Order: sequence, then C-alpha cells, then structure tokens
Amino acid sequence: MTQLDIESPKHCTAKQPHNSHHHHRHSFINSSSFWKLLSTLFSALLTVILLVWLVLRPSKPSFSLQQASVYHLSLSDSVPAAASFLNSSFQLTFVASNPNSRLGIYYDSLRVYASYQGQQITGLTSFPPFYQDHGEKNLLSASLTGSNLPVAPYFGSEVARDQVSGKLTVRFAVDGRIRWKVGKWVSGKYRMNVECITAMDFGRGLPAGPLTSQQGSRCSTTL
Ligand SMILES: *[C@@H]1O[C@H](CO)[C@@H](O)[C@H](O)[C@H]1NC(C)=O
Repeated sequence: MTQLDIESPKHCTAKQPHNSHHHHRHSFINSSSFWKLLSTLFSALLTVILLVWLVLRPSKPSFSLQQASVYHLSLSDSVPAAASFLNSSFQLTFVASNPNSRLGIYYDSLRVYASYQGQQITGLTSFPPFYQDHGEKNLLSASLTGSNLPVAPYFGSEVARDQVSGKLTVRFAVDGRIRWKVGKWVSGKYRMNVECITAMDFGRGLPAGPLTSQQGSRCSTTL
C-alpha cells in the first residue's frame, strides 16, 4: 500500500525540486566513495608490495676473495717530498655468490681496482657482464695493472714498514650495477660496491716471488 503511494505521479512531481538536490548529494557521495576506493586500492597495493618483499626478501650478493697475488710493484726513485710513480701488476680471483632462493642477479658493469693506504695503485679492470641464477656461485678473475701511477711521497716508506712486519695490506674495491630478476620481471639498476681487505704475505718477497693473500678473505657488499 505505502509503496504504491510513493509511486503515485503526484508524489513524484512534488518531489521534483528535491530530486535535483538529491542528485547533487548523490554525486558528492560518489566522489567520496571514489576516494575511498582509491585509498583501498592504494593500501592493497602496499600490502602486495610488502608481501612480495617478505616472500622474496632480497639478500645482497656476497663476495669473497679466493686468491690475490702481487707480481710486480715498483716505485720510481723520487726526489724527497715529490710524488713518486708506481708500476704494479696484480692477479686476483673473487667468488661471487647469490644467496637468494628466488631472485636472479644481472651484473651489468663490474669494475675493480686495488688501493693501498687510501691510494689507488692499479687502473680499473672491467668484468664482462653476466647473469647469476639463484643460489649460484661464479669465479671472477682479473688482472690489474698500474703504469706510472702517481703516489704520495710517503708511499715507499709505508711499503718498507709493511715489509718489516711481513704483511702488505691491500684493499680491492669493486663497483658496479646490478638488476634483480624475479620470474620474467627484471628490476631497475642498483649501484653496488664491494670492498675486500686482505693482508698479503711478503714471503720471499718481490721480485723473488709474488706476494699472495690468505685464502677466503670476506668482502663487504653495500647496495
Ligand atoms: C714503469 O713502466 C714504464 C713503461 O713500461 C717505465 O718507463 C717506467 O720506468 C716504469 N717505472 C718503474 C718505477 O718501474
């Protein structure tokens, strides 16, 4: 009975001016529910990202120094308080491993150099780009050479002091860019820095034989 009453045409005309007002309010409700929908979608997206991150939880690639040798290290005779010039030759092998169980890593542009007491003692050597599957390990070997590199005047006395102690502490620095791979998706590029510090044994010493590092020096990786 009442429903029939509401649908009567008389009632409808009476409601007409009210109706347009109602329409206005309706569109206002619509836009507020639009924002509600948007914020729901946004928080759903954040939840998905968080879940993906929790499931994948990317771990940094880990590096260790398997072997490093110095074959040549010679310093020009310098006038006191002037820079000396250095020639050097190193051979090194890294082990790079991907500890992730679901992520692959593209290594795009790895370069390495050696430094001693904060001074670069070799030029940069590039590794060819490669892909590393999850859980995989790769050996990376490089020859590093320096020719006529300027070093500070105290360089020679630092090396002489290390020679007395029997250990030459050398730092190897790797910089590069990596991309993560999940299924078919590949991330953007991330900058990566690796630093390995190793004490090389003087042994019989240069030039009688190469200086060699201890096995398995750990390196630190920063992304
Ligand atoms: C370094 O090498 C260059 C060219 O190979 C040579 O002219 C220079 O004398 C070398 N310097 C030292 C300190 O051995």
